[in-house]
Amino acid sequence: ESERETTKTRFDFQEITHGVDETHHVAPGYRSDILIRWGDPVLPGAPAFDPDRQSVEAQTRQFGYNNDYVGYVPLPLGSKSSEHGLLCINHEYTNAEVMFPASGAPTREHVEIEMACNGGSILEIRKDAGRWSIVADSRYARRITALDTEIALSGPAAGHDRMKTSADPSGTRVIGTLNNCAGGITPWGTYLMAEENFHGYFSGDLNRHPDATVADGVAEHPEKRNYARYGVPAGHFVWGRFHRRFDVNAEPNEANRFGWIVEVDPLDPASMPIKRTALGRFKHEGAESIVNADGRLVLYSGDDQRFEYLYRFVTDGKVDPSHRAANRNLLDAGTLSVARFEADGTLAWLPLIFGQPGLTPENGFHSQADVLIETRRAADLLGATPMDRPEDVEPNPHNGRLYVMLTNNKERAAEQVDSANPRAANLWGHLLELTPPAGDHTAQRFGWEVLVKAGNPRDPATAALWNPATGENGWFACPDNCALDHQGRLWVATDQGQAWHSASGSADGLWALETEGSGRGTGRMFFRVPVGAELCGPCFTPDGRTLFLAVQHPATDGTLDYPGFARPSTFEDPATRWPDFDPAIPPRPSVVVVTREDGGPIGG
Ligand code: FEO
Ligand code: CA
Ligand code: CA
Ligand code: CA
Repeated sequence: ESERETTKTRFDFQEITHGVDETHHVAPGYRSDILIRWGDPVLPGAPAFDPDRQSVEAQTRQFGYNNDYVGYVPLPLGSKSSEHGLLCINHEYTNAEVMFPASGAPTREHVEIEMACNGGSILEIRKDAGRWSIVADSRYARRITALDTEIALSGPAAGHDRMKTSADPSGTRVIGTLNNCAGGITPWGTYLMAEENFHGYFSGDLNRHPDATVADGVAEHPEKRNYARYGVPAGHFVWGRFHRRFDVNAEPNEANRFGWIVEVDPLDPASMPIKRTALGRFKHEGAESIVNADGRLVLYSGDDQRFEYLYRFVTDGKVDPSHRAANRNLLDAGTLSVARFEADGTLAWLPLIFGQPGLTPENGFHSQADVLIETRRAADLLGATPMDRPEDVEPNPHNGRLYVMLTNNKERAAEQVDSANPRAANLWGHLLELTPPAGDHTAQRFGWEVLVKAGNPRDPATAALWNPATGENGWFACPDNCALDHQGRLWVATDQGQAWHSASGSADGLWALETEGSGRGTGRMFFRVPVGAELCGPCFTPDGRTLFLAVQHPATDGTLDYPGFARPSTFEDPATRWPDFDPAIPPRPSVVVVTREDGGPIGG
């Protein structure tokens, strides 16, 4: 306790306690209101949610499932309004087991409802007398789905033969976006949606040639090496049964059209979203960016899988702050690089450019399009550093440094430990802080250090590393999303997944984490989610007085380990019915708005 007295942090709130129960908890003195839930109306005229009368038609106009990224665009654009804006929210995936009554085989209708539950929602919101509400019948209201949203492909891979399908012989138009995890808002107010685990939606057999006239064993699938590197086809969903394009044998190139960053103009609901292929194809966690001192945009993205890489994209052109339209195609030309961490505390950014050593025809790369379609394999050849699942990466505009969330990696063996991934069987994850030299985000080499090794610091088996001033509830496991507030202070949300019981024994939540001064590395617990949920999308308004939180998949993760429950959740019997607590309503992923009761800044 003496260390706690002498160590200062910039946060001033009373922390809550670890635990797990059916509801959410926020620090004393704060309000937490539900803004919108799965199934609530988004588009004008959408029906109210009725779990017994779900339909494709209704769901394409209602709020999707598993809200993940949350971005805020002030209105009018260019203002710093913290009382009126557009909320851009990703919908990552679906949990059919708690969405639909138990029945036999999946139906086309259920699959299409799930397709309509992926993508994004754009809402106009306003704060009146201290309370936020959704503007009804807003002209900005929009749903983007995996089912019926037409999306353009642009950049070096657009129109390439490997991007062409029977429905799109041009290779420039794709229907839908899916598994939209985290994202970003650009300086010109567009919304970036990251396509993460796209492999799970595809089914089929890579040992069979797509042409049925080719006998088995004579020729393999032409994309076998590429797809295998991404785990395509994983068949986690049965979309391919009803929509043949998700069957890699029926439509051999469709899976090359997912795994990208999608740019959406939330101010123009009629605009076509665009998949920006220059940013590479992998399991993009997010897409946060910063304007470099020279005016170029620098965008960071993690590839969230065990032993995958950290990427950076630097635009060729400069951001034009005065002419929004001049930035329209800025993300189509630039340099994608991948990180190699060195033991001396530096890292090198290795450019993924066709023709560089290794990225040549001998290895199957015939153009920059090939390098981007097979970003992972190109990064392998350059010697990038395999990381413990890179999730969010956020630049801090207040000090120019970057925070990298590495969520966990139970499969790292002792002989695979390195300085940037310092623990074997890493169940708890860690945070790295990266420092561009003289604040230059385009530099070829950055400095870095470990900020925190997550897990319980009082359990020697974790080998956790925190500031010793961190209290009993101030530590967490499995950092995933993060946010910086108006003072440049870091907040970290967690996703322990099914393993929460062994990672921390407590539900996921949001922690304040000091990065400066004597308190550097001190955590403090602010918010906790209901059982089986994870916390996504922390997002502050510019004044730091409102915090939007996305509570994802309540009742689903690791409920076997929930004391007193000990069985998987079902529609009929879920571990919690948060947030409605109505016996007729299933649990619903929802966006929560946190404000201080006295209206002050979040976190003090
Ligand atoms: Fe969708 Fe990496 O979390
Ligand atoms: Ca995530
Ligand atoms: Ca995660
Ligand atoms: Ca999740």
